Amino acid sequence: MYPIIDRQELAKGNMVLITVEAPQIARKIKPGQFVVLRINETGERIPLTVAYKDLSHGTITIIFMVIGKSTALLGSLKVGDAIKDLVGPLGITEEFTKLGTVVGIGGGSGIAVLHHLLQGYGAAGNKLVGIIGARERDLLILEDEMKNLCQQLIVATDDGSYGMHGLVTDALKTLVERDNPEPIDLVIAVGPLVMMRAVCQQTKLYNIKTLVSLNPVMVDATGMCGACRVSVGGRTRFACVEGPHFDGHQVDFDELIQRNNTYGRDEKTSLLFSIRAK
Ligand code: NAD
Ligand code: FES
Repeated sequence: MYPIIDRQELAKGNMVLITVEAPQIARKIKPGQFVVLRINETGERIPLTVAYKDLSHGTITIIFMVIGKSTALLGSLKVGDAIKDLVGPLGITEEFTKLGTVVGIGGGSGIAVLHHLLQGYGAAGNKLVGIIGARERDLLILEDEMKNLCQQLIVATDDGSYGMHGLVTDALKTLVERDNPEPIDLVIAVGPLVMMRAVCQQTKLYNIKTLVSLNPVMVDATGMCGACRVSVGGRTRFACVEGPHFDGHQVDFDELIQRNNTYGRDEKTSLLFSIRAK
């Protein structure tokens, strides 16, 4: 069993942060890797990317949005409750090398994953520029943490309630098309698929290498079931064992969005039934 030692609600309760005691995973996990958890004996397996680790306390922290029945149940757990199974670290870790300037773009709950990845690139000596976006000010997470990590941070909100008025792609355009822009060696984008698709369309025009973190539906997370398949450069790849990071310019986002939408309806229905059953 893995006890929960901290729980916070973020973004007006739209997101939940939980910190779990898992010393063996904390010791091994690298930025960008994920865990699969099962809340109880009959629970489904949920893949979640780790936002922080704390080696001194042997803990990992995950930040997630309540989308379906299982994330609603996970979000309802309290400090002192425990998670039945936790498997990880999973996924291929990035090689964090010194490239120069790395621009990290995070949307909504994707900012948590972005923060951990940028920690890896920061530790390798890169200059970090962050662009984070949310629909409105109250939905923005980890602004202070990103400010502390990045040499420059641009915040954008869709409704203009805070920071720049617009999408993260508008912020990227401003950054790249200003007078005497600094060269960008890598862009990393984490957030909704439509956001990552839009970022990649933009960076392709600018010819900037772009890495995306994908979170397709996963079942076994061991490369056996094929649920997490994505088309990258015309080849089928399994995000659980060959990802979750891929060259964004090679990803078939349209196909992935279509597949994810199929399950989105089921997630909403299962959440509705679980609320009614209470
Ligand atoms: P959201 O819909 O509120 O969007 C967040 C921001 O993304 C917006 O403020 C905007 O700046 C940008 N954005 C959205 N659509 C865009 C578009 N078409 N073009 C350009 N920019 C756009 O995000 P949310 O509701 O918080 O959802 C977060 C998403 O991130 C979820 O879909 C979740 O699955 C995903 N996520 C992915 C990972 C990962 O590892 N890949 C991790 C956590 C969350
Ligand atoms: Fe089954 Fe990746 S989740 S192959």
